[in-house]
Amino acid sequence: LDFDIRLSERPRSAAEREAILADPGWGRHFTDHMITIRYAAGKGWHDARLEPYGPIALDPASQVLHYSQELFEGLKAYRQADGSIATFRPYANAARMNRSAQRMAMPEIPEELFVRSLELLVSTDRDWVPTRAGHSLYLRPFMFATTRALGVNSPADEYLFVVIASPSGDYYAKGIKPVSVWLSQDYTRAAPGGTGQAKTGGNYAASFAGQAQAVAHGCDQVVWLDAIEHRWVEEVGSMNLVFVYGSGADARLLTPALTGTLLPGITRDSLLKLAPDLGIPAEEGKISIDEWQAGCESGEITEVFGCGTAAVISPVGSVKAADRSWTIGDGEPGPISMRLREELIGIQYGSRPDPYGWVHKI
Ligand code: PLP
Ligand code: COI
Repeated sequence: LDFDIRLSERPRSAAEREAILADPGWGRHFTDHMITIRYAAGKGWHDARLEPYGPIALDPASQVLHYSQELFEGLKAYRQADGSIATFRPYANAARMNRSAQRMAMPEIPEELFVRSLELLVSTDRDWVPTRAGHSLYLRPFMFATTRALGVNSPADEYLFVVIASPSGDYYAKGIKPVSVWLSQDYTRAAPGGTGQAKTGGNYAASFAGQAQAVAHGCDQVVWLDAIEHRWVEEVGSMNLVFVYGSGADARLLTPALTGTLLPGITRDSLLKLAPDLGIPAEEGKISIDEWQAGCESGEITEVFGCGTAAVISPVGSVKAADRSWTIGDGEPGPISMRLREELIGIQYGSRPDPYGWVHKI
């Protein structure tokens, strides 16, 4: 499949771009171009384009607007020290998008086409990849049902795949300060058999009320518990959770196992592989809120952090629920969390060796 290329006639000037890159924020600004590829049953993927960034016209009866057949991905392009650009594990995002597609009865996109789309957009808009330390170009591939039909007995037969790109600064405006979290016992993110492991917009729509409740209780983020017992810890906000037991040479990691209700994070997966190489054993398992609290109070649990593409590693400093609260560590980011963060960022920006071939040069 070849891309039809139509460059913007009015790209932002270098001065306009620099003004944005000086303080990009997160998810507020977009580059000059986007990728669109159409799908139709019987015809497959077709009409691939690189075109100027802009609005998409949709029929009001487009299936996605009614029944939310949608999914998305998120990854970043990083400016390397030598000025070149690399993405991180883009094939892992392609594979996850296709697993999400299976759950949402949507078409899979060939991994090569997914990665070529990213490469074409990033290389066209390469001047938008920030050079400031810690900044990056966030890439947002997504796909949704465009079939004009209100019937709900079958999935759509037409879809649009789109990639947009957004320069990003620090995800957390506060910087790397441990966040406070609220244990949500009223709301759940995902139930067994549901869509928790698919990266579909509805999961996020359903999360806003829980997040608002966390904020109303003075917390930064919401922690999701399992839907049945409201006891087993699953995720924090839109990140996976990692618990550090012990310290120094005796530190080890535990992260909730992928039970089908958690999003299988690529950052999580990368840390599970990297930590043991640094002498930090890492395992997947189960942890209840009682074990979390007891572990912090006894000093057995020394650090807790959320991990995801946007924030990389985000330490958790305190936990609050309707009937209890406790703190983790001394209010500063822990040494194991920061060491893992440095290691992962080092690989992504090309300043550390890449033992698993995760770095994908554009
Ligand atoms: N959990 C949820 C619910 C997410 O939305 C995300 C990020 O997109 C993650 C975890 C982390 O995934 P990744 O490390 O692939 O960014
Ligand atoms: C992440 O990249 O960690 C995210 O949670 C992305 C989010 C904006 C959906």
